Amino acid sequence: MTEDPSETPTITLTEDRDGQLIEVDASRWTQDALSMALRDVLSQTSTGVSIWLDHPSEEIDLLLGRLGMTAQRDLFRMETSIPLGQRTEIATRSFIIGQDEEEWCEVNNRAFSWHREQSGWTVELLKERQKESWFDAEGFRIYEQDGRIAAFCWTKVHADENPVIGEVYVIAVHPDFHGLGLGRALTLAGYQHLEDAAVTKAMLYVDADNTPAVNLYRDIGLEVQVVRRLYQQHNQAS
Ligand SMILES: CC(C)(COP(=O)(O)OP(=O)(O)OC[C@H]1O[C@@H](n2cnc3c(N)ncnc32)[C@H](O)[C@@H]1OP(=O)(O)O)[C@@H](O)C(=O)NCCC(=O)NCCS
Repeated sequence: MTEDPSETPTITLTEDRDGQLIEVDASRWTQDALSMALRDVLSQTSTGVSIWLDHPSEEIDLLLGRLGMTAQRDLFRMETSIPLGQRTEIATRSFIIGQDEEEWCEVNNRAFSWHREQSGWTVELLKERQKESWFDAEGFRIYEQDGRIAAFCWTKVHADENPVIGEVYVIAVHPDFHGLGLGRALTLAGYQHLEDAAVTKAMLYVDADNTPAVNLYRDIGLEVQVVRRLYQQHNQAS
């Protein structure tokens, strides 16, 4: 939902595959209120908790440092409107449930071998995602070359947002096919699929230090709107 600025800001506590997760938008809090609220929620969480915080600052890094949390890495939330200025004619197909899982995991895990969270997908995890209400095989675009999956663009529609937001959730090109224009084409194909579904707002998250991807997204018109910083407990920091 689009937030009502008059509403009291909240801190969300959820669970993901790595453990407990706190999500907070710092732009909605005064420094003192944020400090108290985080202290309070951290006292109720288990060790190993992570925080994803939107709109970080040096002051907040210091505040969280005093609460035992270290900044780990930044994501950019990039946005633009749909349709994008560039288009592609590349022919993609939908993900085929019951057929593509194993090969998709191989391609994804090769492309993201360096990535802490996006590598290591298993068929089991993918099948769990397929049960989510937002999962749509049509929005999971696959590109084949030489009889194999060379690249893919998995999109997600946030239907509860106003206006509805279309996300490029995961996109990758198998390393054997890097630098051939497939990353650009598949990102555009994903957003064109969302355009066909009447979505007018485009979004994605990308690691701030993923230069190839950030350059690509900037070049097709996406702009950084939010920095989202991950904090973990000092003794967990790698
Ligand atoms: C990011 C990724 C999708 C790019 O795919 P690709 O097919 O190699 O990229 P393209 O050939 O389409 O290049 C398009 C643009 O990307 C950028 N780019 C690609 N490789 C780059 C590199 N090594 N360094 C800097 N910019 C790069 C450039 O802006 C390039 O534009 P140009 O061709 O006009 O120079 C691919 O590197 C990949 O799969 N990486 C691993 C997974 C990943 O990081 N996914 C994105 C997570 S959000």
